[in-house]
Amino acid sequence: MAKKLIGIDRRSVLKLAGGVAVTGLGVRSFPMPAIAQGAPVRVGFMLPYTGTYAAIGKTIENAFRQNVAERGDKLGGRALEFVQVDDESDPTKGPQTMDKLVSREKVDVVVGTVHSGVQMAMVKIARESNTLLIIPNAGVGAATGAMCAPNIFRTSFSNWQPGFPMGKVAWDAGHKRVITFSWKYGAGEESVGGFKEGFTKAGGTIEAELYLPFPEVEFQSYLTQIAEKKPDAVYVFFAGGGAVKFVKDYAAAGLKKSIPLYGAGFLTDGTLAAQGEAAEGLQTTLHYADDLDNPVNKAFRENYVKRYGAEPDVYAVQGYDAGALLAVGLDAVKGDFKARDAMLKAMRNAKLDSPRGPMSFSAAQNPVQNIYLREVRKGKNALVRIAHQGLADPGVGCKMT
Ligand code: PHB
Repeated sequence: MAKKLIGIDRRSVLKLAGGVAVTGLGVRSFPMPAIAQGAPVRVGFMLPYTGTYAAIGKTIENAFRQNVAERGDKLGGRALEFVQVDDESDPTKGPQTMDKLVSREKVDVVVGTVHSGVQMAMVKIARESNTLLIIPNAGVGAATGAMCAPNIFRTSFSNWQPGFPMGKVAWDAGHKRVITFSWKYGAGEESVGGFKEGFTKAGGTIEAELYLPFPEVEFQSYLTQIAEKKPDAVYVFFAGGGAVKFVKDYAAAGLKKSIPLYGAGFLTDGTLAAQGEAAEGLQTTLHYADDLDNPVNKAFRENYVKRYGAEPDVYAVQGYDAGALLAVGLDAVKGDFKARDAMLKAMRNAKLDSPRGPMSFSAAQNPVQNIYLREVRKGKNALVRIAHQGLADPGVGCKMT
């Protein structure tokens, strides 16, 4: 649906569920149904609906809506209305796009985004305007580090979190010299940083760190360098459309058989249908695996498939938990956003029964969660074992005011 609407004007602000439609041309109002418990809570989705992360954005929104629907379409007794903006994963447009939601749309809460660079602009504005911000993906360390704030929560991960445990996994598999490869921006650099920390602590050596600009996908010259240097293994951070192409190119270059490929789990999450055989057997670390054996995960997956006709992935889990976290806050204050301190306190202390397993929040309001080693088996990210139980990001530089 977003795709069709975005076809009209992809930079437009979109409103789907009655109330207000905001387009590049201005704001139009429609009659609203009378709502017993006061005005609906205004939720602004700031996500990528176009570009290499487009599918990720839509999946997050889908699962957030699923969570709200499972609660009878109300949180803390209040209905919700949604506004969407496409951030295009373009950091240069981040401030303006976020400002549209905060100043013009006057949303109560922003849910977004995917790209770490765009996230930084959002975090800055959320701090200045004291807008409640729930981050459903982007892992940029500063959001729950030096730029942390009581009104900023993350239901996904820090970029360091999936990377760090993979260092030990790779060392334990017998690899001594590894080349890393990623897009050159916050997420890639921090993910590689996490891996490097874990791998070198265990005794390994990073032979080379290769980077290409985001969101380029001309991998060939880098694959040639890898083939020439013959490391014991390769660690990568790629996600979305870029991850699909990378995994296929790595296999097509004949490297998959000779040089084991590892990555943060985004490499194979939400991408497997398109990657096919090229992804089979790849091992990655992430805070989710498709077959986690808990009742919440089973029900979540079943309902997602029913609603959307597609298998959910880690991004769906993160969007779903963004809904769950907002529910904790609004339930605690019976939908009264003005009871802000009590709402934020309830969110900070939330213990979520997530499809990913148990999840709580660090002092910097980043998830404390298991990181799983997974392996692609028959088109699924299957659980191998817990790589690191209850891992908390160190939250360096966070001083809550
Ligand atoms: C990020 O930019 O922080 C990012 C993007 C996509 C992912 C993970 C992290 O899958």
